Amino acid sequence: MTTLRHFLDLDRFDIATLRTILDLGAAYKRGETPHGSARPLAGKVLAMIFEKPSTRTRVSFEVGMRQLGGDVIVLGRNDTQLGRGETIADTARVLGRYVDALMIRTDDPAKLDELSRHAGVPVINGLTDASHPCQVMADLMTFEEHRGPLAGKLVAWTGDGNNVAATFIQAAALFGFRLNLACPPELPPSRAALDWARARGAKITVGSDPWSAVAGADLVVTDTWVSMGCADDWRPAVLEPFRVDRALMGRAAPDALFMHCLPAHRGEEVTDEVMDGPQSVVWDEAENRLHVQKGILTWCLAERTE
Ligand code: CP
Ligand code: NVA
Repeated sequence: MTTLRHFLDLDRFDIATLRTILDLGAAYKRGETPHGSARPLAGKVLAMIFEKPSTRTRVSFEVGMRQLGGDVIVLGRNDTQLGRGETIADTARVLGRYVDALMIRTDDPAKLDELSRHAGVPVINGLTDASHPCQVMADLMTFEEHRGPLAGKLVAWTGDGNNVAATFIQAAALFGFRLNLACPPELPPSRAALDWARARGAKITVGSDPWSAVAGADLVVTDTWVSMGCADDWRPAVLEPFRVDRALMGRAAPDALFMHCLPAHRGEEVTDEVMDGPQSVVWDEAENRLHVQKGILTWCLAERTE
C-alpha cells in the first residue's frame, strides 16, 4: 500500500525527514538535480486552493512546480463550488481524481485535515489560522545559510502569538533552538503548540516584554499585527510596544538576523531602518520559499514510500 506524503504541520514530522526536505531545497538552490532529473515532476499537476490572498506562496509554488517540470492550477475563493456549499471532503474526492497533489490556504485547520483525509493525493498546508509550516521551513533554511546550524541558538519572536509563531514553537522542539516569545497577553501563542514542544524538551519562554525576549538573540522575528481574517481594531494599540526598531535590534546579539515572513506593514511591526538594514534577511527568506518548496514538492511527489 502506498503511504501518502502530506506536508501538513511540522509536529507530524521527525527531524530526519525535515532535514531531508531542507537538504533537497538547498540542493535545488545550488542548481543540483537531487532526483537525477532536471524535471522530476514532469507530468504532475498541483492544484492550489486559496481561500485567503497570497503573493509569495502562490508565485513560489507555481514557479517551483514549473521549474521542476510540472504544472499548476490555481483555484481562488470564487473559482470552485466550495463557496456554494460543496463540502471539503467531496471537493477533495473529486480533485484527487484529476491532480497529483493539492495545496490549500484556508482559515480553519480542520479543513486542511479533511482535505488530506479524502483527497487520495498528497496535501500541502499553504497556511491556516493555526500554522504556516512552508514559511518556517524557508526561515530555518535562511538562518542556516547565514549562520549555520540552529541547534542551541536563541530565537526571539515579538508580536502577535499567531500562526507563524505556532510553527516556530514546533520547530524549536524539532531543531533544538531556544525560543523566547514576547506577545501581548491578549494575543498569546498557541497553548497546544507550547504543550507539544515542551513535552519534547523544548526550551521556550513566553512573556510580554520584548526587551527581555530579544536580549542576546541570534534571530529576531516578527509578523503583521493584523493577520488575514483578523479584523479586531484594538490590535495596533496592544501590539505597538512589540515593534522591531533599531533600539530593539540593539538588544539582540551583535550579529543577530532579522526575519519577517512578509507582507510587512512598515512603520507598524517593523521600521524601515530594520527592514532595509544590514541585519535583515527578509529577501533571502522570501526567495527561499521557492527553494524549500521544491524540497517539499519533490518529497511529496517524486518519491513514494511503499
Ligand atoms: N509569507 C507568505 O506566506 O506570503 P504570502 O501571503 O504572500 O503568500
Ligand atoms: N500571520 C500572517 C502571515 C501571512 C503570510 C497571516 O496569517 O496573515
